[in-house]
Amino acid sequence: MCSFKIISIFLLVLLLFPSFQPKCGASASVEEAAALLKWKASFQNQNNSNLTSWNLQSVNAKNSSILPCTWAGISCTDGSIIGSIPKQIGNLSKLNYLNFYANELSGCAIPKSLGNLTNLIELYLYENQLSGPIFKEVGDLKFLTDMELGENQLNGSIPASIGNLSNLEVLSLQNNQFSGSIPVTFGNLNKLVNLSLYQNHLSSPIPPMIGKLSSLQFLYLLYQNHLSGPIPPVIGNLTSLQFLNLGQNTLSSTIPKYLGDLTNLIRLDLSDNQLSGSIPVSIGNLSNLQYLLFRNQFSGPLPELLCQSGILQNISVAENMLTGPIPKSLQSCSSLVRAHFNGNRFQGSLSEINWGKCKILKTLVVAKNNITGGIPPEIGNLTQLHTLNLSSNYLSGEIPREVGKLASMLKLDLHDNQLTGGIPQDLGVLME
Ligand SMILES: *[C@@H]1O[C@H](CO)[C@@H](O)[C@H](O)[C@H]1NC(C)=O
Ligand SMILES: *[C@@H]1O[C@H](CO)[C@@H](O)[C@H](O)[C@H]1NC(C)=O
Ligand SMILES: *[C@@H]1O[C@H](CO)[C@@H](O)[C@H](O)[C@H]1NC(C)=O
Ligand SMILES: *[C@@H]1O[C@H](CO)[C@@H](O)[C@H](O)[C@H]1NC(C)=O
Ligand SMILES: *[C@@H]1O[C@H](CO)[C@@H](O)[C@H](O)[C@H]1NC(C)=O
Ligand SMILES: *[C@@H]1O[C@H](CO)[C@@H](O)[C@H](O)[C@H]1NC(C)=O
Ligand SMILES: *[C@@H]1O[C@H](CO)[C@@H](O)[C@H](O)[C@H]1NC(C)=O
Ligand SMILES: *[C@@H]1O[C@H](CO)[C@@H](O)[C@H](O)[C@H]1NC(C)=O
Ligand SMILES: *[C@@H]1O[C@H](CO)[C@@H](O)[C@H](O)[C@H]1NC(C)=O
Ligand SMILES: *[C@@H]1O[C@H](CO)[C@@H](O)[C@H](O)[C@H]1NC(C)=O
Ligand SMILES: *[C@@H]1O[C@H](CO)[C@@H](O)[C@H](O)[C@H]1NC(C)=O
Ligand SMILES: *[C@@H]1O[C@H](CO)[C@@H](O)[C@H](O)[C@H]1NC(C)=O
Repeated sequence: MCSFKIISIFLLVLLLFPSFQPKCGASASVEEAAALLKWKASFQNQNNSNLTSWNLQSVNAKNSSILPCTWAGISCTDGSIIGSIPKQIGNLSKLNYLNFYANELSGCAIPKSLGNLTNLIELYLYENQLSGPIFKEVGDLKFLTDMELGENQLNGSIPASIGNLSNLEVLSLQNNQFSGSIPVTFGNLNKLVNLSLYQNHLSSPIPPMIGKLSSLQFLYLLYQNHLSGPIPPVIGNLTSLQFLNLGQNTLSSTIPKYLGDLTNLIRLDLSDNQLSGSIPVSIGNLSNLQYLLFRNQFSGPLPELLCQSGILQNISVAENMLTGPIPKSLQSCSSLVRAHFNGNRFQGSLSEINWGKCKILKTLVVAKNNITGGIPPEIGNLTQLHTLNLSSNYLSGEIPREVGKLASMLKLDLHDNQLTGGIPQDLGVLME
């Protein structure tokens, strides 16, 4: 089952140098072969018969574009090294960097003996077809700064021993089949900058220990997990955070007001959870925010001040139960590209807002709300607008002539309103 196509342990070639990426076939190169030769030179047994083909003069190697695929111990398919990771890998105890990413490693679990590579600093096994659990001995690799095992089929629970890797800066386990909870021991990873656990089957609440990860900048617990319970208020202590993505889980309760303390946030995605209550006014303090994605069961009004610093690009608060007006502060939001307010209970008139300054707005969707009044004519000045959906509201009056002149328009939906008058003549131009 765990057959290993490479003929001997020397095939450990694959264990390489910083940033050496073992690729063969079309992408193999003399340079890569040279890197392997350099490594061979460090062997004590380089006269081993299995290594004789490792040279640039080897008959098979004359065609340099297929180096080093023809060497003993190296096996390539369609440009990728195939096989599984040999357990003898544990003998290379001085290894610092192990980079096998984007190959076709498959068959069985990551061997436990990897835990013997106690000098390892970087471990890259992402984009393979590895399955089974991560061995708990991984917690012995105490110099690891970077462990990237994403895009495999690893399963079981995430070992608590990972919390012992106090030098870890990047931990990416996304797109696997891990289940169970996020280990509370993760709270010890105080150098962690990037934590990616999205697309797994993780459940249980987010442990409050996460509030101790003071170096964290990127927190992706993203979609296709089953995290439940509230967002821990201590997340407000992660003031270095730039990306917070908790979307597509089953988180409930309200948004802690402390999220407004994360003033370095660029992207905040809480969409597709079961969060409720009102959106805290403090969200308006997120002065670096560019993306705000909030589809849930929120009620009450939106914070009056959004886009204070004028860099918000994408706001989606669609499909909530929000009430009150669409915040007037958006009229100074010259950075706005996409705005989705549909499926709420917003009231008031769109004319309260001077849309003319949102010069790069491409999408404005306010469908299925309680909006009254007319369609503001300055919308006709938004020359990049390609989607305008104001359907299913209580809009009245005539469709402004200017709207008919928008040459970029691809989708204009105004149905189910109380509009009067004719369809503007210019609209015909849009319909080619
Ligand atoms: C070469 O590899 C084969 C296959 O793994 C192995 O049986 C043999 O012992 C190796 N030869 C040497 C000299 O290591
Ligand atoms: C390998 O073999 C060559 C000659 O065949 C010899 O000169 C050299 O010393 C050997 N190296 C080792 C490390 O045994
Ligand atoms: C070298 O090998 C590649 C891939 O097998 C082949 O496309 C190319 O024609 C070969 N070049 C020569 C000079 O044989
Ligand atoms: C790993 O280390 C343990 C204990 O030091 C040893 O028993 C085991 O054989 C080693 N495994 C490998 C593959 O080197
Ligand atoms: C690897 O280490 C194990 C024990 O740790 C040992 O039994 C085995 O012979 C070693 N393999 C090689 C090729 O040195
Ligand atoms: C992990 O996947 C393997 C099949 O690849 C399966 O046999 C095993 O039961 C799974 N383990 C868990 C904990 O899901
Ligand atoms: C972490 O390391 C300590 C000391 O080396 C050890 O006692 C403990 O069992 C480890 N924790 C886990 C969860 O492996
Ligand atoms: C953090 O991890 C994600 C997913 O693995 C990746 O897309 C992103 O580039 C990483 N960022 C940094 C700064 O390492
Ligand atoms: C943030 O951490 C401090 C201690 O470092 C603690 O007193 C405070 O309660 C934490 N804030 C939150 C919101 O938990
Ligand atoms: C917004 O930030 C200012 C300055 O840091 C602070 O005084 C204010 O209380 C914050 N507002 C909210 C609603 O958190
Ligand atoms: C929205 O309009 C509907 C239909 O007129 C009305 O029943 C509902 O009370 C309105 N909701 C709000 C929040 O104004
Ligand atoms: C549209 O833009 C033009 C030129 O920038 C300006 O004169 C005009 O008043 C604007 N129209 C509306 C309705 O804002």
